[in-house]
Amino acid sequence: MILENFKRESIVPMPVTFISTISENGVRNIAPYSCFMPVLRPFDLVCVASAKRRDTLVNLRSTGEFVINMPGTDMADKVIPTALHVPPDIDEFELAGLKEKPSKKIKAPGIEGCYAWMECKLDHIIEEVYDGFPYALILGKVVYLEVEDSVYDKESGSWDVEKAKPLMMTGSDEGMHFCTVNGIGKFEPYGAMFKNGKDPLERMYKKEEGQECK
Ligand SMILES: Cc1cc2nc3c(=O)[nH]c(=O)nc-3n(C[C@H](O)[C@H](O)[C@H](O)COP(=O)(O)O)c2cc1C
Repeated sequence: MILENFKRESIVPMPVTFISTISENGVRNIAPYSCFMPVLRPFDLVCVASAKRRDTLVNLRSTGEFVINMPGTDMADKVIPTALHVPPDIDEFELAGLKEKPSKKIKAPGIEGCYAWMECKLDHIIEEVYDGFPYALILGKVVYLEVEDSVYDKESGSWDVEKAKPLMMTGSDEGMHFCTVNGIGKFEPYGAMFKNGKDPLERMYKKEEGQECK
Protein backbone atom coordinates (compact mmCIF):
# COMPACT_ATOMS: atom_id res chain seq x y z
CA MET A 1 0.00 0.00 0.00
CA ILE A 2 1.35 3.45 -0.88
CA LEU A 3 0.48 6.16 1.64
CA GLU A 4 0.36 9.91 1.23
CA ASN A 5 3.75 11.29 2.19
CA PHE A 6 2.55 13.21 5.26
CA LYS A 7 1.08 10.16 6.98
CA ARG A 8 4.28 9.23 8.77
CA GLU A 9 2.51 8.92 12.10
CA SER A 10 0.51 6.04 10.63
CA ILE A 11 3.61 3.84 10.57
CA VAL A 12 5.78 5.27 13.36
CA PRO A 13 5.07 4.71 17.06
CA MET A 14 5.76 7.98 18.87
CA PRO A 15 6.36 8.65 22.54
CA VAL A 16 3.82 10.79 24.35
CA THR A 17 5.59 13.27 26.59
CA PHE A 18 4.01 16.01 28.68
CA ILE A 19 5.96 19.25 28.60
CA SER A 20 5.39 21.39 31.67
CA THR A 21 6.38 25.05 31.80
CA ILE A 22 5.47 28.21 33.67
CA SER A 23 4.74 31.52 32.06
CA GLU A 24 6.50 34.79 32.90
CA ASN A 25 3.50 35.53 35.15
CA GLY A 26 3.75 32.20 36.95
CA VAL A 27 0.87 30.37 35.22
CA ARG A 28 1.52 26.62 35.02
CA ASN A 29 1.13 24.98 31.62
CA ILE A 30 1.16 21.42 30.31
CA ALA A 31 1.02 20.14 26.71
CA PRO A 32 1.48 16.70 25.17
CA TYR A 33 4.38 16.57 22.69
CA SER A 34 5.16 13.51 20.59
CA CYS A 35 7.70 15.06 18.22
CA PHE A 36 10.44 14.55 20.77
CA MET A 37 13.82 12.86 20.57
CA PRO A 38 17.13 12.65 22.41
CA VAL A 39 19.91 14.10 20.22
CA LEU A 40 22.63 11.47 19.81
CA ARG A 41 24.33 9.36 22.46
CA PRO A 42 26.03 10.61 24.71
CA PHE A 43 24.79 14.21 24.46
CA ASP A 44 22.50 15.57 27.13
CA LEU A 45 20.47 17.38 24.44
CA VAL A 46 16.86 16.78 23.49
CA CYS A 47 14.95 18.13 20.51
CA VAL A 48 11.26 18.92 20.29
CA ALA A 49 9.41 20.05 17.16
CA SER A 50 6.75 22.61 17.94
CA ALA A 51 4.17 24.56 16.01
CA LYS A 52 4.59 28.30 16.56
CA ARG A 53 1.24 28.90 18.25
CA ARG A 54 1.94 27.06 21.49
CA ASP A 55 1.92 28.52 25.00
CA THR A 56 4.67 25.97 25.70
CA LEU A 57 6.92 27.69 23.14
CA VAL A 58 6.12 31.17 24.50
CA ASN A 59 6.85 30.02 28.08
CA LEU A 60 10.08 28.20 27.42
CA ARG A 61 11.29 31.08 25.26
CA SER A 62 10.66 33.61 28.05
CA THR A 63 11.80 31.49 31.03
CA GLY A 64 14.38 29.27 29.31
CA GLU A 65 13.09 26.22 31.20
CA PHE A 66 10.86 23.20 30.72
CA VAL A 67 10.30 19.69 32.03
CA ILE A 68 9.79 16.69 29.77
CA ASN A 69 7.59 14.35 31.79
CA MET A 70 7.29 10.71 30.73
CA PRO A 71 3.82 9.30 31.45
CA GLY A 72 2.77 5.67 31.59
CA THR A 73 -0.37 4.27 30.00
CA ASP A 74 -2.26 5.00 33.24
CA MET A 75 -2.09 8.69 32.30
CA ALA A 76 -3.71 8.28 28.87
CA ASP A 77 -6.82 10.11 30.07
CA LYS A 78 -4.71 13.22 30.76
CA VAL A 79 -3.73 13.65 27.10
CA ILE A 80 -6.83 15.50 25.90
CA PRO A 81 -7.28 17.71 29.00
CA THR A 82 -3.67 18.93 28.57
CA ALA A 83 -3.97 19.24 24.77
CA LEU A 84 -7.02 21.54 24.90
CA HIS A 85 -6.46 24.92 23.32
CA VAL A 86 -7.15 27.18 26.28
CA PRO A 87 -6.04 30.78 27.00
CA PRO A 88 -2.55 31.15 28.49
CA ASP A 89 -3.89 32.38 31.85
CA ILE A 90 -5.52 29.00 32.59
CA ASP A 91 -3.60 26.79 35.02
CA GLU A 92 -3.41 23.49 33.13
CA PHE A 93 -2.37 21.47 36.20
CA GLU A 94 -5.74 22.42 37.70
CA LEU A 95 -7.59 21.95 34.43
CA ALA A 96 -6.26 18.41 33.99
CA GLY A 97 -6.40 17.49 37.69
CA LEU A 98 -2.63 16.92 37.86
CA LYS A 99 -0.35 17.56 40.82
CA GLU A 100 3.04 19.15 40.48
CA LYS A 101 6.31 17.46 41.38
CA PRO A 102 8.68 20.27 42.36
CA SER A 103 11.79 20.39 40.20
CA LYS A 104 15.31 20.29 41.63
CA LYS A 105 17.26 22.53 39.23
CA ILE A 106 14.63 24.72 37.57
CA LYS A 107 11.48 26.63 38.56
CA ALA A 108 9.12 24.89 36.12
CA PRO A 109 7.49 22.00 38.00
CA GLY A 110 7.21 18.42 36.82
CA ILE A 111 4.09 16.26 36.97
CA GLU A 112 3.46 13.75 39.75
CA GLY A 113 2.55 10.25 38.58
CA CYS A 114 4.91 10.13 35.58
CA TYR A 115 7.72 7.55 35.61
CA ALA A 116 10.56 9.90 34.60
CA TRP A 117 11.35 13.60 34.40
CA MET A 118 13.89 15.58 32.39
CA GLU A 119 14.44 19.06 33.76
CA CYS A 120 15.70 21.08 30.79
CA LYS A 121 17.24 24.46 30.14
CA LEU A 122 16.74 25.94 26.71
CA ASP A 123 19.85 25.61 24.56
CA HIS A 124 18.50 27.27 21.46
CA ILE A 125 15.53 27.44 19.12
CA ILE A 126 15.74 26.92 15.37
CA GLU A 127 12.95 28.85 13.69
CA GLU A 128 11.78 27.50 10.36
CA VAL A 129 8.98 27.94 7.85
CA TYR A 130 7.88 24.91 5.85
CA ASP A 131 5.34 25.35 3.07
CA GLY A 132 4.26 28.65 4.64
CA PHE A 133 3.82 27.04 8.06
CA PRO A 134 6.10 28.41 10.79
CA TYR A 135 7.51 25.95 13.30
CA ALA A 136 10.36 25.67 15.76
CA LEU A 137 12.90 23.05 16.69
CA ILE A 138 13.57 23.44 20.38
CA LEU A 139 16.92 22.19 21.62
CA GLY A 140 17.08 21.70 25.35
CA LYS A 141 19.88 20.63 27.67
CA VAL A 142 18.85 18.11 30.32
CA VAL A 143 20.11 19.50 33.62
CA TYR A 144 18.48 16.94 35.92
CA LEU A 145 17.19 13.50 35.01
CA GLU A 146 15.16 11.38 37.37
CA VAL A 147 13.37 8.06 37.03
CA GLU A 148 11.06 6.19 39.41
CA ASP A 149 13.15 3.66 41.36
CA SER A 150 10.53 0.94 40.79
CA VAL A 151 11.11 0.89 37.01
CA TYR A 152 14.91 1.22 36.96
CA ASP A 153 17.65 -1.28 37.72
CA LYS A 154 20.58 0.65 39.22
CA GLU A 155 23.08 -2.14 38.54
CA SER A 156 22.54 -2.53 34.80
CA GLY A 157 21.20 0.98 34.20
CA SER A 158 18.26 -0.44 32.31
CA TRP A 159 14.61 0.36 32.80
CA ASP A 160 11.78 -2.10 32.86
CA VAL A 161 9.47 -1.05 30.03
CA GLU A 162 6.90 -3.61 31.03
CA LYS A 163 6.63 -2.01 34.48
CA ALA A 164 6.81 1.59 33.26
CA LYS A 165 4.39 1.02 30.34
CA PRO A 166 5.46 4.20 28.51
CA LEU A 167 2.53 5.93 26.84
CA MET A 168 2.94 5.96 23.08
CA MET A 169 0.80 7.01 20.19
CA THR A 170 0.39 6.18 16.55
CA GLY A 171 -1.83 7.94 14.04
CA SER A 172 -4.52 6.88 11.64
CA ASP A 173 -6.87 8.71 9.30
CA GLU A 174 -9.29 9.02 12.22
CA GLY A 175 -7.01 10.09 15.04
CA MET A 176 -4.59 8.90 17.68
CA HIS A 177 -4.28 5.32 18.87
CA PHE A 178 -2.50 4.85 22.17
CA CYS A 179 -0.15 1.97 22.81
CA THR A 180 2.96 0.96 24.73
CA VAL A 181 6.09 -1.15 24.16
CA ASN A 182 7.12 -4.69 25.10
CA GLY A 183 10.60 -6.16 25.35
CA ILE A 184 11.29 -8.97 22.86
CA GLY A 185 14.01 -10.59 24.95
CA LYS A 186 16.86 -9.61 22.64
CA PHE A 187 19.91 -7.65 23.77
CA GLU A 188 23.09 -6.38 22.06
CA PRO A 189 25.90 -4.42 23.74
CA TYR A 190 26.80 -1.07 22.16
CA GLY A 191 30.22 -2.53 21.44
CA ALA A 192 28.66 -4.93 18.92
CA MET A 193 28.54 -2.02 16.44
CA PHE A 194 32.31 -1.66 16.45
CA LYS A 195 35.01 -3.82 14.89
CA ASN A 196 36.96 -4.17 18.14
CA GLY A 197 33.78 -4.95 20.07
CA LYS A 198 34.40 -1.99 22.38
CA ASP A 199 31.96 0.83 22.97
CA PRO A 200 34.02 4.08 22.67
CA LEU A 201 31.66 5.65 25.20
CA GLU A 202 31.97 2.81 27.69
CA ARG A 203 33.73 4.99 30.27
CA MET A 204 30.70 7.24 30.56
CA TYR A 205 28.51 4.38 31.74
CA LYS A 206 31.01 3.00 34.27
CA LYS A 207 30.17 3.91 37.84
CA GLU A 208 32.95 4.32 40.36
CA GLU A 209 32.38 2.68 43.73
CA GLY A 210 29.81 4.70 45.68
CA GLN A 211 29.37 7.23 42.88
CA GLU A 212 25.90 8.67 42.47
CA CYS A 213 24.60 10.11 39.20
CA LYS A 214 25.33 13.80 38.64
C1 LIG B 1 -0.51 13.04 21.67
C2 LIG B 1 -0.25 14.46 21.22
C3 LIG B 1 1.00 14.82 20.76
C4 LIG B 1 1.27 16.13 20.34
N1 LIG B 1 2.52 16.45 19.90
C5 LIG B 1 2.79 17.71 19.51
C6 LIG B 1 4.12 18.05 19.07
O1 LIG B 1 5.04 17.24 19.06
N2 LIG B 1 4.32 19.34 18.68
C7 LIG B 1 3.35 20.28 18.73
O2 LIG B 1 3.60 21.44 18.36
N3 LIG B 1 2.08 19.99 19.15
C8 LIG B 1 1.80 18.73 19.56
N4 LIG B 1 0.55 18.42 20.02
C9 LIG B 1 -0.46 19.48 20.14
C10 LIG B 1 -0.34 20.27 21.45
O3 LIG B 1 -0.22 19.43 22.57
C11 LIG B 1 -1.59 21.14 21.65
O4 LIG B 1 -1.70 22.05 20.58
C12 LIG B 1 -1.62 21.89 22.97
O5 LIG B 1 -2.87 22.54 23.14
C13 LIG B 1 -0.54 22.93 23.06
O6 LIG B 1 -0.68 23.51 24.33
P1 LIG B 1 -0.01 24.88 24.72
O7 LIG B 1 -0.57 25.95 23.80
O8 LIG B 1 -0.45 25.05 26.15
O9 LIG B 1 1.46 24.73 24.57
C14 LIG B 1 0.24 17.11 20.40
C15 LIG B 1 -1.03 16.75 20.88
C16 LIG B 1 -1.28 15.44 21.27
C17 LIG B 1 -2.65 15.08 21.77
